[in-house]
Amino acid sequence: MRTPAGVAVAILLFLPLLVAAQELYTVVGDAVPTPLTDVPGNPANGRAIIANRQVGLCLLCHTGPFPEERFQGNLAPNMSGAGSRWSEGQLRLRLADASRLNAASIMPAYYRTTGLSRVASAAQGKPLLAAQQIEDVVAFLRTLKE
Ligand code: HEC
Repeated sequence: MRTPAGVAVAILLFLPLLVAAQELYTVVGDAVPTPLTDVPGNPANGRAIIANRQVGLCLLCHTGPFPEERFQGNLAPNMSGAGSRWSEGQLRLRLADASRLNAASIMPAYYRTTGLSRVASAAQGKPLLAAQQIEDVVAFLRTLKE
């Protein structure tokens, strides 16, 4: 493998690992200030993602202003007022990787693909929510003022 071709093959083999190890966003302090997409988040879509038991699963742990949803969780703070408590960037980091703010957090890292264990092979390399879904959820949470 000491030939130029061998080196090229080695680089090609390891390139995906290098790319996968890159963070998908830039953290500044306790926030991700820059939106993950160019399209502004849609609050109505964000609300639907949160309430959906297959997509967001948020109500497994959280309660919030979702009067139509029965059986909300009691493992996490009520989402009401989250838009007054946190800036857009703080909410974005909270969703992307809550463990960055609280190492013991039970909240899933919705936009992280590195440093995870026990990920089903079909889900490897894919965050739980897509970038646009994160932006939609952030946009909705920002509307929850107290
Ligand atoms: C497995 C449980 C769990 C799930 C699922 C979960 N969270 Fe959380 N969340 C927590 C906990 C616990 C906290 C408290 C802070 C901590 O421990 O990280 C929290 C904190 C938060 C906060 C800050 C609360 C505050 O103080 O205002 C927001 C906003 C939030 N979560 C939104 C969401 C959204 C949106 C989803 C779904 C996309 C979600 N969470 C899914 C457990 C969860």
